[in-house]
Amino acid sequence: MEVLSRIIRKNGSILEIGSGSGEHGVAFQKRFPEIVWQTSDPDLIHRKSISSWIKYEELNNKMPQPITLNVENIPWKIPLKLVDSLQGIVSINMIHVARWTSTIALFRESGRLLNKGQYLILYGPFKICNKHTSLSNSLFDNSLKMQNELWGVRNLEEVSLEAEKNGFYQEDKISMPANNFSIIYRKLS
Ligand SMILES: C[S@@+](CC[C@H](N)C(=O)[O-])C[C@H]1O[C@@H](n2cnc3c(N)ncnc32)[C@H](O)[C@@H]1O
Repeated sequence: MEVLSRIIRKNGSILEIGSGSGEHGVAFQKRFPEIVWQTSDPDLIHRKSISSWIKYEELNNKMPQPITLNVENIPWKIPLKLVDSLQGIVSINMIHVARWTSTIALFRESGRLLNKGQYLILYGPFKICNKHTSLSNSLFDNSLKMQNELWGVRNLEEVSLEAEKNGFYQEDKISMPANNFSIIYRKLS
């Protein structure tokens, strides 16, 4: 929240990729009532959960229903109203539970949609210089790979290289609790 409150402008929309249950999404919408928090997920069960959270928190008049979005389905089909009002994209705990090609697609489409100065924020565990930052992250990485050999904690330098290929620079790397990081990428042009 604190990281977002430093970055979010008081207008427009934010697209959240891989919103999961939606619990974070509704919390962000409540914390930032001036903006529109647009959740998304490729999974129907998650989208139903997000809708339930929106209803439970009585945000129906403020917060749009989740959209179906798998980052690998390019070009993303997102409402024009959202494209026009977009100020940034946020993805929490997504890129390590998806194939590497999802990270590539995430930056490619974000680079196409966002304008100069706008941001893409990633939150989650990362390896730094190809090394885990904690034993727990290393064990977590192994457990991810046991579930799906294409998943895994990503190396920050490789992620940031994808960012650069698509017109972003890594503006900040903020240490978060439980050996996670918030990585702020800013569009250069
Ligand atoms: C570990 S969950 C994180 C959910 C939520 N952001 C959180 O932190 O609680 C990962 C989410 O990423 C979504 N996801 C996986 N692959 C994706 C893809 N290719 N495109 C978009 N979302 C994806 C999953 O459906 C799931 O909801």
